[in-house]
Amino acid sequence: MTITSRPSAVAPSLLGGSIELPTRACRHSEPRTVSPWTGAPGTVGRVAVVGAGKMGLPLAVQFTSHGWDVTAVDVQASVVDSINAGLNHVTEEPGLTEGVAAAHAAGRLRATLDGAAAAAAADVVVLIVPVMLNDEQQPDYRYMDAAVEAIAPGVHPGSTIIFETTLPVGDTRGRFAPRLAAVSGLRLDEDFFVAFSPERLYSGAALKNLAMYPKLVGGLGPESGARAAAFYGSVLDAEVVLMSSAEAAEFSKLADTTYRDVNIALANEFARYADRVGVDIQEVIAAANSQPYSHIHQPGLGVGGHCIPVYPHFLLSRAPEMELVELSRRVNDGQIGLAIRTIQKALGGLEGVPVLVLGLTYRDGVKELAYSRALPLIERLAFHGAIVSAYDPLLSDAEITRSAAAPYRWGTPSDARAIITQTADPLFRSLDLGLFPAAEVLFDGRNSLRDLALPERIGYHGVGVPAAARLPAEAAVR
Ligand SMILES: NC(=O)c1ccc[n+]([C@@H]2O[C@H](COP(=O)([O-])OP(=O)(O)OC[C@H]3O[C@@H](n4cnc5c(N)ncnc54)[C@H](O)[C@@H]3O)[C@@H](O)[C@H]2O)c1
Repeated sequence: MTITSRPSAVAPSLLGGSIELPTRACRHSEPRTVSPWTGAPGTVGRVAVVGAGKMGLPLAVQFTSHGWDVTAVDVQASVVDSINAGLNHVTEEPGLTEGVAAAHAAGRLRATLDGAAAAAAADVVVLIVPVMLNDEQQPDYRYMDAAVEAIAPGVHPGSTIIFETTLPVGDTRGRFAPRLAAVSGLRLDEDFFVAFSPERLYSGAALKNLAMYPKLVGGLGPESGARAAAFYGSVLDAEVVLMSSAEAAEFSKLADTTYRDVNIALANEFARYADRVGVDIQEVIAAANSQPYSHIHQPGLGVGGHCIPVYPHFLLSRAPEMELVELSRRVNDGQIGLAIRTIQKALGGLEGVPVLVLGLTYRDGVKELAYSRALPLIERLAFHGAIVSAYDPLLSDAEITRSAAAPYRWGTPSDARAIITQTADPLFRSLDLGLFPAAEVLFDGRNSLRDLALPERIGYHGVGVPAAARLPAEAAVR
């Protein structure tokens, strides 16, 4: 296996975190449409994308842009109707509105509720519906099980079925392929083909990432791997990496995301120690990461979104002996306790104290509340008696109210005695503290306001950034 474009080959950011890779230009010539499609170079066919959400819709658009005819399959009639009208229902994804309109106008993109019919007409089926966690932190397969049941009657000789949704190791082979084989009566890797290829896109940069990150592919047999790799070779400009098995590809996604969770947990532990010894953790991380083998991420109020806090549990569901993984989850989830204890100490308690939380989505710029640390933060603040108000530039007042906080109007006076930032939205850097005459504490949960000018009455608390060290991190290393 070769990966030619590694992140470490690109000048890394001294501040850690995500590394921008260059996008690869399209090197495809005009393709030839064939039916059935058998993977020959330079040919394209028909693909069904099952789950036309934040990831599925950009994929559908990408596939059309490389000559494939795409049928998007979804269980929501509103999603199907919107796509069939040439409209993009996924907000905050640059280029997607134009992409959907162009694909629709070219007659290459249509949508349906009928998974079996779409699979019957397709050479390739890509499944990208969510697999999440249930209350016991075990994989919740309800959407994927339903999607597999829906397409199974349409699987035919020559079908290539690719799972892109992140799965526990072994599920493509052990849980889903047997069901497809049983319903279709076909032989795996001989009559039809099944592969796993993790989706690694970043919400908000999906179309750009498609030309950036190497596409990992693992088949359930040699022909399955080859077909899936040929498909991605025809639709992606990024490098396609054919791995030795579906299990290796499944594990790679869990390894990548769990590595980041463990890395952040380490940064959070470092930040606690930095607080204790009065050292600026951002200066430390920037300096440590100037050694090219060090890639320490940033500390903060914990990890949200439906990837990083979820996939360690997929690993743990099969490998409970991974103590480091389990501990890292606890460390990261424990960060909100740190914020609460800090404010309690600064104000002598939270009973009846007005507190403003800024940023409710799991990260700035992405309108997604899944596993956002803001939700348990608000719950815990309220549990201790605080009167919580909140603001997020991406959310309406009704959405804020559903998070159990009173909506705060940006730019209006507030009686908050403590302010906590839970995202690093750039807007918060223009916070007018004159509007907060009672404010005594700013807890900077993402260390994004470290250079904000504060009146003397307001105590600053970062995550491993002591008040005395409030110099911009980059200036501090120079
Ligand atoms: N969102 C991300 O940032 C991200 C990043 C990388 C990978 N992923 C992977 O992509 C998967 C999907 O994430 P998403 O953000 O696109 O989810 P999403 O919720 O935005 O979209 C999922 C879509 O699937 C549809 N759906 C549900 N059950 C279905 C079924 N049985 N048949 C057809 N459609 C069905 C839903 O109606 C919805 O439109 C995740 O589980 C994850 O494995 C997501």
